[in-house]
Amino acid sequence: MRRVALSAILVAAATSVAVAEDQSKPAFKPTSIKAPFLEQFVDDWSDRWTPSEATKKTPVGGETFSYVGKWEVEEPSAGVIEGDKGLVAKTKAAHHAISAPFEKAIDFSDKPLVVQYEVKYQKGGNCGGGYLKLLEDGFQTAGKEFSDKTPWTIMFGPDLTCPGTKVHFIFRHKNPISGEFEEKHLKVPPRPSIEKLTNLYTLVLHPNNTYDVLFNGESHNRGDLLEDFNPSVNPAEEIDDPEDKKPEDWVDTKRIADPDATKPDDWDEDAPYEIPDEEATKPEGWLDDEPDNVADPDAEKPEEWDDEEDGDWIAPTVRNPKCDSAPGCGEWKRPFKANPDYKGKWYAPQIDNPAYKGEWAPRKIANPNYFQDLTPVKSLKSIGGVGIELWTMTEDILFDNIYIGHSIEDAQALAAETFDVKKPLEVAADKAAQPAEDVDEEVEDLTFDAFKADPVTFLRGRLIKFVDAAKVDPVAAFKAQPQTAATLGLAMITFFGMLGTLFGLVGGQQKPITKSAKKTDAPSPDDKVKKETAPVAPAGEKEKKAGEKTDTPVKKRK
Ligand SMILES: *[C@@H]1O[C@H](CO)[C@@H](O)[C@H](O)[C@H]1NC(C)=O
Repeated sequence: MRRVALSAILVAAATSVAVAEDQSKPAFKPTSIKAPFLEQFVDDWSDRWTPSEATKKTPVGGETFSYVGKWEVEEPSAGVIEGDKGLVAKTKAAHHAISAPFEKAIDFSDKPLVVQYEVKYQKGGNCGGGYLKLLEDGFQTAGKEFSDKTPWTIMFGPDLTCPGTKVHFIFRHKNPISGEFEEKHLKVPPRPSIEKLTNLYTLVLHPNNTYDVLFNGESHNRGDLLEDFNPSVNPAEEIDDPEDKKPEDWVDTKRIADPDATKPDDWDEDAPYEIPDEEATKPEGWLDDEPDNVADPDAEKPEEWDDEEDGDWIAPTVRNPKCDSAPGCGEWKRPFKANPDYKGKWYAPQIDNPAYKGEWAPRKIANPNYFQDLTPVKSLKSIGGVGIELWTMTEDILFDNIYIGHSIEDAQALAAETFDVKKPLEVAADKAAQPAEDVDEEVEDLTFDAFKADPVTFLRGRLIKFVDAAKVDPVAAFKAQPQTAATLGLAMITFFGMLGTLFGLVGGQQKPITKSAKKTDAPSPDDKVKKETAPVAPAGEKEKKAGEKTDTPVKKRK
C-alpha cells in the first residue's frame, strides 16, 4: 500500500517542474447542495443577514453597550480558494451580533438536526467566541433587535476563553413544572487545539436524544442528552430534607485523646531542646586575647578633620590578620548539642471515640420539583434562524459554509466540496510560510551532481522530508522544494535501476513519516484515497482508523 503511494509520488516527481510552475488557486464554485439553511456568503448574503442594532446590558454595573463590532463579507487574508468569501467579525475588543432568519422554522423533533460550519481565527487565538446560536422560532422579524437576550434553543461552537478553548454544546430545556428554561451544558466539552487555520464544527442531534459533536469531521463527543449534561435534564427524584437539622448531641468526632492516659512520672516537659556540649574542647591555638577586629593600621586621620567639631577621630576597623591563621579569636564559647532527655509537651494518645455516631446526613424526601422528560429533544423549541453574538478581543474571526438541516450525508458532501479542499491547502501554505530551517539550508547541494556523488545521503536528507510534505499536499511540496523534485525526477529517469534502493530507504523510514504526517488533523491524500475507494470501510479498516486516532493531538486532549 505504502509502496504504491510512494511510487505514484516518485512518478509525479518526474513531471514536477511543470507542476511547480502552476501557481493558480482553485476557484470557488457555489454548491448545488440544498438545505433548509445553507450559507456560503455569496453576493446576495445581505438579503439574509442583518447586523444587530440592539444594545446589550452587561451584568456588571448595568452598563449598556451597543453591538459596535463591524461585519464584513470578504476573502480570508490568507485565502487558498479564489473568490471564496466568508463572514468576518472585524473589530477588536467589541461586541458583535448578526443574524439570519430561516425561510421556514426548522423542527427537529422527528428528524436529525445537523449543524455544521467553519471558523477561522485568522489572527490566532486570543479571546473570542466562534459559536452559533440557533434562535427560537419567533425572532425572525426582529433581526435588528438580536441581542444576548434573544431566546435561543441551542448554542454550538468554539470559544477561545482566556485561557483555554472549548467547543460549547448547550441547549435550553423548559422545566415543565416551573415553566422556566434552563441551560444544559455538555459536562465534558471537547477542547481541541485551535490554530489560525480553518476548522470545521459539526453537531448532530437525533430525535432519540443521542448527539455527536465532530471536530474536523472526526467524532469527539457522542452520547445522550439525558446523561451527559449539567445540570441534568431530569432533576433527582429525592432531595435532602431542608427541615432536617443535625441534633445538638450528635457526636461526629471520630478520634479523641485517651481520657485514661496519664503523663509518665519521668516525663520532664521542661527539659531543654539543646544543652551545652560538655565534651567539646577549645581548639589548640585559640587566641583568647586577640580581638576579632582591630583598628586599620593604614588609616590616617583626614586633614580636614576638626577634633573640636567632629569629635575624636577613630580609625575604621579591619579584620584582625592574626585570626586568619588561628582556629579562632576572643572568648571561646562551648557549642550546644541536641538534648537526649528532651521530651517536649506530653499529649495523651488518640483513640477511637466510643461515642462516635458516624457522619450526619439529612434524611431524603421526595423532590417536590421532580419531573421526568425522557424525550428532551422533542421538548426543544423549533428554531427560526441562526445568530452570531459574541465578544471578541481578537478581530478577523471568519465564518463560512454554514449548513443547518437534517442530512448528515449532505453536510459531509458540503464539507468535501469546501473544507476538505481548503484545509490541506491551508496546511501546506502555512508550512511553506514557516521559517524554512529544514527546507532551505542545503539548497546548494540539491543538484543532480550531489545525488550522483552521494545518493544515500541525498536521499536520506532530502527525500524523506519531501515525501513527508508531499503526503500532505503533493503540489505544495513540489512548489516548496522544486529542486528536490526536479533532481528526483532526473534521478528517476537516469537511475531507474536504483528504484529498489529508493524503496528500501524510504521503507526503512516508515515510522517517522507516519508520525510527522499525523501532526495535522487535515485529511491527507492517503485518507482521501481510502475514503474514495472504500466508502464503506471493512471492519478491520475501521479498527485501524480508531487506533490511529489516538495519535492525533486533538484526541489526546479527550
Ligand atoms: C439513535 O438514532 C441514531 C440515528 O437513527 C442511531 O444511529 C442510534 O443508534 C440511535 N441510538 C439509540 C441509543 O437508539
